[in-house]
Amino acid sequence: MQAVVLIGGKGTRLRPLTHTIPKAMVPLRNRPYFCYMMDTLRAAGLSEAILCMGYLPDPIQDYFDGRQPEDFSLKYVLEDRPLGTAGGIKNAEQYLEDGPFVATNGDVLTGLDLSEVIEAHRDSGALATLTLTAVEDPTAYGLVEVDSRMRVRRFLEKPAYDEATTNLINAGIYVLEREVLQMIPEGREVSIEREVFPELQAMGKLSAHVSSAYWRDIGTPKSYLAASHDILCGTTARNGSFRYTNVHGSASVSRNVTLLPPLDVAANCRIEAGATLGSRTSLGEGCYVGEGAVIEGSILLDGAAVEDGAVVRNSIVGPSAVIRSESIVRGLSVVGAGCVIEEGNVLDHGCRLNPHTRLDRATVCF
Ligand code: GDD
Ligand code: MG
Repeated sequence: MQAVVLIGGKGTRLRPLTHTIPKAMVPLRNRPYFCYMMDTLRAAGLSEAILCMGYLPDPIQDYFDGRQPEDFSLKYVLEDRPLGTAGGIKNAEQYLEDGPFVATNGDVLTGLDLSEVIEAHRDSGALATLTLTAVEDPTAYGLVEVDSRMRVRRFLEKPAYDEATTNLINAGIYVLEREVLQMIPEGREVSIEREVFPELQAMGKLSAHVSSAYWRDIGTPKSYLAASHDILCGTTARNGSFRYTNVHGSASVSRNVTLLPPLDVAANCRIEAGATLGSRTSLGEGCYVGEGAVIEGSILLDGAAVEDGAVVRNSIVGPSAVIRSESIVRGLSVVGAGCVIEEGNVLDHGCRLNPHTRLDRATVCF
């Protein structure tokens, strides 16, 4: 079976990271997100994915052109303007063989056994089967009401608070029959959630499979960071959890550095004396951590530097950004690529800095 993966969105909610990195390529434990999606597909015996791209396609293709996995083939289709979640899938039609196929959002991290959904689809006789997962607040997702036979009774994208009749939502992973492609109009942006699923539901041809496996949409700084924590803690694993700790052999770690697992330190990092790398932290390639600096629960992307005595907690520091001495970055703040935060600054409460911003001495950014 083939898979169609939607990775053409702008990743607006994950800005400023997605100003320079497409959502499919954001690292989790120093592996691009899309590698985890491939793992999920591969585990169910799939060996081919068609990537529906639009925004920032080059970093994705460049990365995988050099590392095309032997057991998994990737094809690319590019939209010159956004076609939406249904239009994107239709755009892959030329590469699709006969029979049902998997279609998935390209920003969900999951421990789902996809073969369960494929089997449920075969048994259902529906034209489409959605994977459902339970969440606390369904208003940011597609709400799905089902009957006792797992037929979809109602699909409501981004319901208002008072419309939230269930906590089951669309996990963004489907099995579709080819006939669904005929229902998608050409030449304009079409949403599978707002147009196609309600139509399939009205035809009585939309089915669902509930999964209790790990699931998270990585599309906001909060959920991206949480996904990174989950991967480091092993809670995404299908078979129980483990705590992941890795310091690359080429990293230079001074004596007197406190390393609190789980954590991941990529190649060519330099960690100076007295620094503390706290649990659930991931450092990309070539990062620098100065004397006495403290980094906890955070993601530093390649080439980021946190200088002497600076503190980064529960935040994301973009590629090649520099946090100078005694500055503090905390509270789910996101520092864009190449920013320079001069000495003594405080970034807190979800502060977000666009790429290449320079913050002068002692500014407070909330
Ligand atoms: N090719 C292409 N073209 N891909 C697109 C386009 C487009 O025009 N627009 C969005 N995408 C991709 C995004 O890159 C992402 O991987 C996926 O489609 C879903 O888009 P999001 O913008 O992340 O949607 P969402 O998270 O608000 O909602 C969707 O996902 C939820 C689960 O996480 C919906 O499918 C909800 O119903 C669902 O509950
Ligand atoms: Mg999403």
